[in-house]
Amino acid sequence: MKVLTLDDFDLKDKTIFLRVDMNCPIDPDTMEISGTKRIEEAIETIKSLEESKVVVATHQGRVGNKDYTGMDKHAKVLEKLLNKEIKYVEDVIGAAAQHEIKNLQNGQVLLLDNLRLCAEENYEFAPKEAAKTIMVSRLSKYFDLCVLDSFPSAHRSHPSIVGFPQVIPACAGRIVEREVRNLDEIMTVAKAPHVIVLGGSKVLDRLEAIKLLIQNRRADHILLTGLIGNVFMRAQARIKSPLGIKREEEVVAKAHTLIGEYPDVFSTPVDIAIDKDGERVEMDVRDLAKGDNIYDLGPKTVSYYSKLIAGAGTVFISGPAGFFEKENFSSGTKGLLSAVANSMATTIVSGGHLTSALKRYGLAEQINHISTAGGALVLYLTGEKLPMMKSLEDAADRKLNPRTA
Ligand code: 3PG
Repeated sequence: MKVLTLDDFDLKDKTIFLRVDMNCPIDPDTMEISGTKRIEEAIETIKSLEESKVVVATHQGRVGNKDYTGMDKHAKVLEKLLNKEIKYVEDVIGAAAQHEIKNLQNGQVLLLDNLRLCAEENYEFAPKEAAKTIMVSRLSKYFDLCVLDSFPSAHRSHPSIVGFPQVIPACAGRIVEREVRNLDEIMTVAKAPHVIVLGGSKVLDRLEAIKLLIQNRRADHILLTGLIGNVFMRAQARIKSPLGIKREEEVVAKAHTLIGEYPDVFSTPVDIAIDKDGERVEMDVRDLAKGDNIYDLGPKTVSYYSKLIAGAGTVFISGPAGFFEKENFSSGTKGLLSAVANSMATTIVSGGHLTSALKRYGLAEQINHISTAGGALVLYLTGEKLPMMKSLEDAADRKLNPRTA
């Protein structure tokens, strides 16, 4: 796949639109950032742009969700990590943001507020339509180059991702460059059987990816954990009471259809652990009562899943198996990550939670590829072209073959 990188451009004196993904976990009680990994990752590309005027743009959370907030806290973390002043503006496309962009000097870094404050950034667009959004038409005139470095949002066709590359030159930042190089290398030699261990809370996204993974022969076994595991257990009628999640009927019906279409692919937990007044209580799934909070996998499930992982040629794991941050509910996540680390398979670990869990358990060295991306990476592994990658390829094609553009 041919995409341009920072090395293909003269960056001195240029004004750069740098799209990163600083979408971090936010503690709902304090509204503070509880994991800064994605901000740390942005540093490398920002440092590569020391001779430019850099406008950093990112989203945080989704409108209506608890983690939807402004970027002021991120600006402070960034300032500490870079050990230099970060300009921050509580605006995205208005007069205040434009004023700050126009007045930037070489070497300065400006962080815009949450891109999703701008309504357009909450919708998916075809690239040509994204180029016509107010965001792109107002801001693009200030920029010489768009650097896309938000791999965790590579599956979104939002204006900040697919719009700017239509109207100004674009290239990959250091994270995207590395992710794509490593993943391409891994996937060209990926061996069967493909075992996918899937947790995580963005259930609708996951359901769509599951279908593609199976259809594109990238999933021989799917071992379910976390909220998506509970959805499948509801679809199997093994969990009787509603889970109380958004669009529950729709997601349970979709899971039910998938089980019907691919009955041999899915494994769901046989035992789990629930939280009773802060204590861990083990039980079979069939003994769950209404209102019980599932906080972890039980030992029989960990042992069964570990055997399937041991027999894999390629293992991909995304999303924790439980509340591993609480010591008494960490054995599922720790057990599965150990099985992945000790397997002979090619191994990929995805998402911010598992990235920090790997570090906590000292297992990171034994993994072939680790990424803070969640849903984007799952979709990448299906073999489908992600909107960001398509934009970068088109931008490279336009620069390399200007007459055909
Ligand atoms: C992620 O964390 O998966 C990315 O930041 C994308 O976020 P989104 O699913 O809200 O678009």
